[in-house]
Amino acid sequence: MVTLRPATKDDIALLKRWDEKPHVIAAGGGDDWYDWDNELPRNADWGELLIAEEAGRPVGVLEICDPAKEPSHYWGSIEDNLRALDIWIGEEEDLGRGLGSLMMRAALDRCFADEKVTAVVIDPLERNRRARRFYERLGFEFAERRLFDQDDCVVYRLTRAGYEALLKRS
Ligand SMILES: CC(C)(COP(=O)(O)OP(=O)(O)OC[C@H]1O[C@@H](n2cnc3c(N)ncnc32)[C@H](O)[C@@H]1OP(=O)(O)O)[C@@H](O)C(=O)NCCC(=O)NCCS
Repeated sequence: MVTLRPATKDDIALLKRWDEKPHVIAAGGGDDWYDWDNELPRNADWGELLIAEEAGRPVGVLEICDPAKEPSHYWGSIEDNLRALDIWIGEEEDLGRGLGSLMMRAALDRCFADEKVTAVVIDPLERNRRARRFYERLGFEFAERRLFDQDDCVVYRLTRAGYEALLKRS
């Protein structure tokens, strides 16, 4: 079982340590880094940074944002009523244990609890085959291949109908 809670300043040391992990570096783009000292705590109406815990132990990170309102306009011009996700597991020993699937399920429940939300988007690097397979298994569908800054990414989208199908399967 995995629970989500807002990340706080007390998490900064751990988050910085996770940033050094090869699997986290491999999943990130060129300047795709969080400035934790300035990012936390995040009190914003456009998005949240969450820590996933398994039995009280932090195991991963999730960012949920409204891509149309996010102030850096990372997603460029994009429709309202979407949510964008970023996710990673901290320790390599925790990869492939099913935690990511539980985190995504909790994140998607949180996103679609807002009746206005029509779809969730995600932008793995094109070369991040394992993460892409992970999203496809959840029902995310290919939307486009796109450069974000200089990073070659693939945009995937899970519609509300796709989310409801996921709920039926699980
Ligand atoms: C992608 C990720 C969040 C999935 O969480 P997880 O707990 O490892 O996944 P689960 O155990 O629920 O599901 C297993 C699937 O996760 C993916 N996965 C497993 N290890 C992975 C790794 N080292 N890197 C990327 N994806 C991995 C694979 O699709 C795997 O299925 P497979 O065994 O058929 O290859 C996690 O692997 C991770 O943090 N990877 C590195 C960071 C990353 O790629 N984040 C996504 C950025 S868009």
